[in-house]
Amino acid sequence: MPLINPHYGLLPGSYLFSEIARRIGAFSEAHPEKKILRLGIGDVTSPLPDSVVQALRRAVEEQSGADGFRGYGPEQGYAFLREAIVRDCFPDLGIRPEDIFVSDGAKCDLGNFQELFDISCKVAVTDPVYPVYVDSNVMAGRGGNRRGDGFSGIIYLPCHAGNNFVPTLPKTRPDLIYLCYPNNPTGTVLNRKELQVWVDYARAEDCIILYDAAYEAYITSPEAPRSIYELPGATEVAVEFRSYSKLAGFTGLRCAYVVLPQSVRGQGADGEKIPLAGLWLRRQTTKYNGCPYIVQRAAEAVHSPAGKAETSALVRGYLDNARKIRAAFEALGLTVYGGENAPYVWVKLPEGLDSWNFFDLLLDRAQIVGTPGAGFGPSGEGYFRLTGFGRPEATEEACRRLLGAGRQTLFPGRI
Ligand code: MLT
Repeated sequence: MPLINPHYGLLPGSYLFSEIARRIGAFSEAHPEKKILRLGIGDVTSPLPDSVVQALRRAVEEQSGADGFRGYGPEQGYAFLREAIVRDCFPDLGIRPEDIFVSDGAKCDLGNFQELFDISCKVAVTDPVYPVYVDSNVMAGRGGNRRGDGFSGIIYLPCHAGNNFVPTLPKTRPDLIYLCYPNNPTGTVLNRKELQVWVDYARAEDCIILYDAAYEAYITSPEAPRSIYELPGATEVAVEFRSYSKLAGFTGLRCAYVVLPQSVRGQGADGEKIPLAGLWLRRQTTKYNGCPYIVQRAAEAVHSPAGKAETSALVRGYLDNARKIRAAFEALGLTVYGGENAPYVWVKLPEGLDSWNFFDLLLDRAQIVGTPGAGFGPSGEGYFRLTGFGRPEATEEACRRLLGAGRQTLFPGRI
């Protein structure tokens, strides 16, 4: 029998959101009459913007004629989309359409990108962390051993109320640094000065920053950069990952892109500096056949004036939900982070309350699903994440249930 990749054995039994789905399934089966409000996984609920739907229809129609029919597309994505992206999102930032690599999702891109690097590369992540960064490196063999809630081979950069969720530079030099801002799960952001520290560090230490900007559309603070390329030096050391999922409701449609300037380089075995862009193209053309034409046309529509107005309204709606969730937890006497520049609200639980226990309690007492902080890494314990991505009426209902249940029911003996 073929031996399986032993590194899979190090991973938690199931992916975080699969475990949550399992618990919801068990609860629904036991209580079919209870209506569950899902504020757990960060999945959008508003319909696609009109300009996106129109673009999809037009593109589908084109496929029915011999002239408009398209087979395999250009490997990096259609020029019309890559040009629209650069015009709309990176004007004057030194990014060119050739630096854009269109794909079907930032999760896949973030999970796959580590393949470009040697197995010996050291990986640093902020903690709590989007599990994909850690799990994909563990699958590849960079995890070392399981240690408590983490892995001995991963450098964790704790982010908590004590450091205002700003990671401090690691004591040991990593090769790869995953940063996500606005942050999933804490909903916090870094200002320019704080992010510049990381760009300067990466330049001084020859590290690569893998910058997940999937939630950039949610930034309201003028202090927080929307792209890492706003910072001097970043085009030498940073790869940015962007997505249409949370911006324009594409979690089902699927479209994202990697921004990878030629100047971002790694080192070959003989010491030669090699641009990562060529390697990523090689990887993608070998293992991937590109995002569908009709979806790329839909993504292009997001950058049109109408698309921009519609997606801003979507984002404002989700931020409004987040604000209501914040207010409800604050009214219950808890300290809450995030939700102002991000769709995620990060609640500090009363001292000693385990986040998976609170998950079960909240489901049982109020039929609300959130995400336990512990699922995002060791420093997530003691926190709980809720998303603003629910329908407005479901979010309001959740807030009513929270306030109706009250502190004694939700945090018995804790407050
Ligand atoms: C989340 O809930 O953290 C997100 O849905 C994850 C993702 O976008 O893959």
